[in-house]
Amino acid sequence: MANTLIAPSLLAADFANIEKEVNMLNQSEADFIHLDVMDGVFVPNISFGLPIISAVKKHAKKALDVHLMIVEPDKYIADFKKAGADWISVHYEACPHLHRSIQNIKSHNCKAGVVLNPHTPVELLDNILPELDYVLLMSVNPGFGGQKFIPQVIEKVRKLKTMCDDKNPACHIEVDGGVNAVNAVELVRAGADMLVAGSFVFNSENPTKVISDLKNISADSYVA
Ligand code: DX5
Ligand code: ZN
Repeated sequence: MANTLIAPSLLAADFANIEKEVNMLNQSEADFIHLDVMDGVFVPNISFGLPIISAVKKHAKKALDVHLMIVEPDKYIADFKKAGADWISVHYEACPHLHRSIQNIKSHNCKAGVVLNPHTPVELLDNILPELDYVLLMSVNPGFGGQKFIPQVIEKVRKLKTMCDDKNPACHIEVDGGVNAVNAVELVRAGADMLVAGSFVFNSENPTKVISDLKNISADSYVA
């Protein structure tokens, strides 16, 4: 089986040294740079927006995975594409016309994903699933890095994997929030193939090694 795709979240990085942090990721085994855009309305926090994404893009050699935690994301898809987004995900809970939002992302030649909050059932994706390049399952309530992993997501990954096998086998299953080396093994076993990790990577002594260890996790990895 192919290695797990790793998307370190820049939210936990040192923003005063963004070029250095991006270069570290460039030299690591990371597949993406995950960028968390928060508007203070959809989530109770404000992070960063277009200028930071453009600045990251200038140095990034990895694809940019942009996670939009904002209301009315449709208004800004063209701008995020222009800033350098390669993959764009929008929240199910923020999109009353989700099918249109997904087509909008695709029309800008970006990979399109839907994000589900911890309480939103995967069954709600039944009709949209064939349209998606990826689904992002939140394993914390969105808005902050460094929160505790909500283990119920593992069962959601399992259910979603069965749905994808049936309706869209190419669809990636990404998990975001509180991911560490232990729950990562369980997530991969359940069917996740794309992991976001913020504080686990950036708060470690050796982020490059942590990324490499996550990258090499497989369904039969040993859990201590
Ligand atoms: C939370 C964000 C996450 C966050 C992950 O709203 O979507 O991407 O940065 O950070 P950790 O890995 O610290 O939970
Ligand atoms: Zn995120």
